[in-house]
Amino acid sequence: MCGIVGYVGARSVVDVVIDGLRRLEYRGYDSAGVALVFNPDGADSYLEVDKKAGKLANLEAVLAEQDRSLEAACGIGHTRWATHGVPSDRNAHPHLSADGRVAIIHNGIIENFGQLRAELEATGVEFLSDTDTEVAAHLLGREYAVDGDLTEAMTRVCTRLEGAFTLLAVAADDPDTVVGARRNSPLVVGLGEGEYFLASDVAAFIAYTTEAIELGQDQIVTISRADGITVRGFDGEPSEGKPFSVDWDIAAAEKGGYDTFMAKEIHEQPQAVADTLRGRIDEAGQIVLDEVRMSDQDFRDIDKVFIVACGTSYHAGLVTKYAIEHWTRIPCEVELASEFRYRDPVLDRSTLVVVISQSGETMDTLMALRHAKDQKARVLAISNTVGSTIPRESDAVLYTRAGIEVAVASTKAFLTQLAACYLVGLHLAQVRGIKYADEVSAILDELVAAPGKIAKVIEHLEPVREMARNSAGKDRVLFIGRHVGYPVALEGALKLKELAYLHAEGFAAGELKHGPISLIEEGTPVVAIVPSPRGRSLLHDKIISNIQEVKARGAKVIAICEEGDAITASHADFVIETPATPTLLAPLLTTVPLQEFAIELATAMGRDIDQPRNLAKSVTVE
Ligand code: G6P
Repeated sequence: MCGIVGYVGARSVVDVVIDGLRRLEYRGYDSAGVALVFNPDGADSYLEVDKKAGKLANLEAVLAEQDRSLEAACGIGHTRWATHGVPSDRNAHPHLSADGRVAIIHNGIIENFGQLRAELEATGVEFLSDTDTEVAAHLLGREYAVDGDLTEAMTRVCTRLEGAFTLLAVAADDPDTVVGARRNSPLVVGLGEGEYFLASDVAAFIAYTTEAIELGQDQIVTISRADGITVRGFDGEPSEGKPFSVDWDIAAAEKGGYDTFMAKEIHEQPQAVADTLRGRIDEAGQIVLDEVRMSDQDFRDIDKVFIVACGTSYHAGLVTKYAIEHWTRIPCEVELASEFRYRDPVLDRSTLVVVISQSGETMDTLMALRHAKDQKARVLAISNTVGSTIPRESDAVLYTRAGIEVAVASTKAFLTQLAACYLVGLHLAQVRGIKYADEVSAILDELVAAPGKIAKVIEHLEPVREMARNSAGKDRVLFIGRHVGYPVALEGALKLKELAYLHAEGFAAGELKHGPISLIEEGTPVVAIVPSPRGRSLLHDKIISNIQEVKARGAKVIAICEEGDAITASHADFVIETPATPTLLAPLLTTVPLQEFAIELATAMGRDIDQPRNLAKSVTVE
């Protein structure tokens, strides 16, 4: 979390930096700040820092009052998700060195900051903030004073820091240099014509260039109009990044006529899922995962699967467990990434660990993946972000191709993760010969038909909106489901918590009677995810019983069920129908009304849909 931008070039530096921050605000929006270096003709260059608590608009208001007759020569900008120190003006980045000559911004956590702070304070340095970042500012200032070389100074500072950090720095008397460093946090370089960008994510500079360089672990990059780009390791040795081209453009990062990014992203889901499947099923009905870099034999050697992820991605993992175990008969466990490595899971060479991460940068997931690799397990990443750390460090990767997801609450990333996970499960079944070819091919046909069905669900969301508005005054909403409907219930509740700040809880429907049913009182909305009455009809019957139990205690039941399900219609207060599909694939459809339910209810409560309080989209701290 935290978004960072740096720029040298002929454009208006402040405009480029603010524009970049706007596109990175999804990474945090507690405060924002810029450091600009000015180089007036015939006068010494100088540094100016402006920063403000709250959203980027607050900083923009401050900047709007300033004299803009002189353009900065280079600059850096930061949008913060607070870790150390409350969101406030003084804790906002950039932070200055004691002599005011260098300014620094940071994403991550400097874990040994306490020790470094004590050391610096012992030499008389006075701290102006509660942040861990400020130690890096003072260290950098001290090192810069030695030889006036910002890159050298940054190199020496990085060897003193522990933890996760991307740092960008500028110096008052060096108007043509921005230096960046990265360890365990993202940093990409954008290459324009005589102009260079540094950012947490390509979204920050996609309006100007689609050519980029991905930096490796423990690398330092310097951008300068005069000298171009240089990359070195923390050991000072020359190094280089990996060039790549971004295959989406600025239009993808705009709202395109929708009120919110989340609404736009919900509507993009049919296309996004189709893109995930594109080219991955050949004419003979074989799943082709060539780019995954795992051979059929590798897949045959697996005798256990772990799925590890956080948040919404974890819910995709929970759904996948049902699919993998049913299709392949391989035991599959799903773990929260933040818990995984601490409980010493049993892993070996024949374990496949599937890490799911939209951003590819989630620190909890990254640490879990490193633990799995240490234990010699094989790691397959399912990610939406090409070149991000998690896919890079994994043995194999399947990209979801959802396109950029800007809203903090995940929608299309989730559906595409499901689609990618289904492909992995069916591929495992194919190469291991567990399922008959015609069975796999029947499921694949259904999978390929899913985008059209998702589109149909999206076309009929008005009744969901009405129910959401009716639920706006309630203090809690419960979600219940069985089988794959259970993770869907968890996801529906998470969306509502994230967006509406409402007590929303998802339960396995059968578990309700063992405690949570006491939460139900007259008028409590209960959203029930009802499986198809065909196929596993036993499941259907059981959830109908659960609906009756909650209704008997006063709940208002909103049922998400298959079209034509007359039994559910006769028991529920409201019914949202979704097209028929096999039970295991149903989450691709049943999740969509819950996304809309959350957005509409939160809108009715006046919430910020794209940037809910306290959250960040990419969480790069543990
Ligand atoms: C954050 C986001 C969630 C997301 C989770 C995992 O908490 O707010 O929406 O599901 O991180 O993110 P990842 O990028 O690893 O999928």
